[in-house]
Amino acid sequence: MSDLRATAIAHPNIAFIKYWGNRDDDLRIPANGSLSMNLAGLETRTTVEFDADLKRDELTVNAAPANEAARLRASALLDRVRRQVGMAAWARITSANNFPTGSGIASSASAFAALALAASRAASLELGELQLSILARTGSGSACRSIPAGFVEWRPGDSHETSFAESIALPAHWDLVDLVAVVSRTHKHTGSASGHRLAGTSPLQAARLEDAPRRLAACRAALLARDFEAFAAVVELDSHLMHAVMMTSSPALLYWQPATLAVMQAIAALRSGGLPACTTIDAGPNVHVLTLANHRQAVQSALESIPGVQDILICPPGGPARLA
Ligand code: PMV
Repeated sequence: MSDLRATAIAHPNIAFIKYWGNRDDDLRIPANGSLSMNLAGLETRTTVEFDADLKRDELTVNAAPANEAARLRASALLDRVRRQVGMAAWARITSANNFPTGSGIASSASAFAALALAASRAASLELGELQLSILARTGSGSACRSIPAGFVEWRPGDSHETSFAESIALPAHWDLVDLVAVVSRTHKHTGSASGHRLAGTSPLQAARLEDAPRRLAACRAALLARDFEAFAAVVELDSHLMHAVMMTSSPALLYWQPATLAVMQAIAALRSGGLPACTTIDAGPNVHVLTLANHRQAVQSALESIPGVQDILICPPGGPARLA
């Protein structure tokens, strides 16, 4: 039942095999498949309420009115829902993250996953997980991976209907932990939407894409076999390849700060010493350090001693997007 209002909760996710570059920028059909883990503990909570008295969609994020670009992006997703059910009413959208704003953790994945679920339910549109993933993808590509539970693979597809994410293992499958080493809280200069459009300007993107199916298969196999050594090797390679493409785009995108590199080198040294830990970095300077739950304390202590690490967020594998 719906009274034209619904609330949904979704986690952000960290990609082990990255999505960077689209075949279709408008529909966000990615140039390669990707694989991620939902981040438990971090969540976006979004309420959508359709109201015939509103003059336009309204968006509040973390208790403040959102900027016009963000409002229009949310409104475009609501338009898809309205079209499917033949509804005309505008909506009031209220969204909040429980993770520190500006911590550099991309919130667009959890935001659009929560929005897709809340908006469709508020409009009494019953979508299955696959359809929800497709709807979330139209807001932010990586948001399609925040709909299913745990460890999730985005099948790139070649059309709107065939590009969606599915769970390949539930959260309990593997006791991985993501320790997010926050080294900067400032907002990134170039967001991922413009970054994806630049990927093709790098002479390295073609090589990155050509080898992507092999890396995806290697990562999936390592994850399913819980083989940390094989997992770490392919996760770091994939992150380095994406950043190599970013750094060689026109204009170049360089997201790292000195402390980013300090964390990467400290973790590489720990791994050489036998500790299961590796790093991966999204479109920002913060470092996601992946380890196994029984080694978390050792990795955390090491991170705490690195100058420039301001905060550490601890995230085990998270569940699916859900109604509140
Ligand atoms: O979903 P977007 O457009 O914010 O792109 C996400 C891009 C990366 O975070 C850098 C990689 C990924 O696969 O999540």
